Amino acid sequence: MKVTAIANSNIALTKYWGKRDKKMMLPFAGSVSMTLDSMFTKTTVEFDSKYDRDIFVLNGKELKDGEEYEEVVDHLNLIREMAKVKEHARVVSENNFPTAAGLASSASGFAALSLAGSKAAGLNLDERGLSILSRRGSGSASRSIAGGFVHWHRGEKEDGSDSFAEQIASPDHWDIRMVVAVTTKAEKKIKSRAGMAQSVDNCPYYSQWVKECEKDIENVKKAVRKKDFKLLGKTAEMNCLKMHAVMMTTSPPIIYWTPSTIEVVTAVLSWREEGLECYFTIDGGPQVKIICQGKDAEEIERRLKNMGVAKETHICKIGGPAKVVEDHLF
Ligand code: PMV
Repeated sequence: MKVTAIANSNIALTKYWGKRDKKMMLPFAGSVSMTLDSMFTKTTVEFDSKYDRDIFVLNGKELKDGEEYEEVVDHLNLIREMAKVKEHARVVSENNFPTAAGLASSASGFAALSLAGSKAAGLNLDERGLSILSRRGSGSASRSIAGGFVHWHRGEKEDGSDSFAEQIASPDHWDIRMVVAVTTKAEKKIKSRAGMAQSVDNCPYYSQWVKECEKDIENVKKAVRKKDFKLLGKTAEMNCLKMHAVMMTTSPPIIYWTPSTIEVVTAVLSWREEGLECYFTIDGGPQVKIICQGKDAEEIERRLKNMGVAKETHICKIGGPAKVVEDHLF
């Protein structure tokens, strides 16, 4: 059977940086994210005996080997094991935004692959099962299944059955936006998987980071519940800075920021001082995402464009859950 799925990317408001179990992809801390409506991955999967190896085409280019190909094959193996199927698969995937540049392409990518792949293999997983399967491909992908504001639980169990993400508020609960400033389209040099393992290994502040995350999660959840924008923005911005402090104090240092990143960050701080309420967050790349209320999104995008540092800007609303669609990519 051939199945196609679309999954939105998500941006963490409190970040995930470090695993307690690398194979099972179990995090040291939980995290909370916002799903983005206009940045997504579309993936078609077909298992068939006519294929003599797994085929993976990403954004029109076939990847025949290398890390990304191997990660997809590992994920297909997991699905084959669960569904007890033996056939190889053809996977065709498209991102409508720059891949591997700190815009959570692995999140939407593995969520779309998990939904399309599991269905194509004959499985009918529920939302929790899909989140757990997506997590095995990429931690942040566990948060791209449910839609809206999402909480990925750290969980306690070794088998990972309680480490899944669930929705804490639906997309229409609150009109919060992210204005994304793409400062470069180049792929990042340090993949998050390798970077976070180094931080766990040698960052002197790592255990404090984990403690901070638990507090920040509670504050973000409270902010969402009460629609307290100041609490949401302040907590998310500070959590991002704490994560980058951990990254920068890892050996060798992990520095994703470029001069343009800092230009946008300082602009956000000064706009806020002028009374335009907005906050920044940054992931494993130089892009800056500005968190704001719906009413301010266009003004923020206008100011960003005037600065001339962003190659592209996007206003993202809160996105919905991953879904199966009818129009296949092959
Ligand atoms: O699951 P990964 O490998 O995409 O790691 C995500 C790491 C960050 O984007 C930096 C933080 C996060 O929680 O999304």
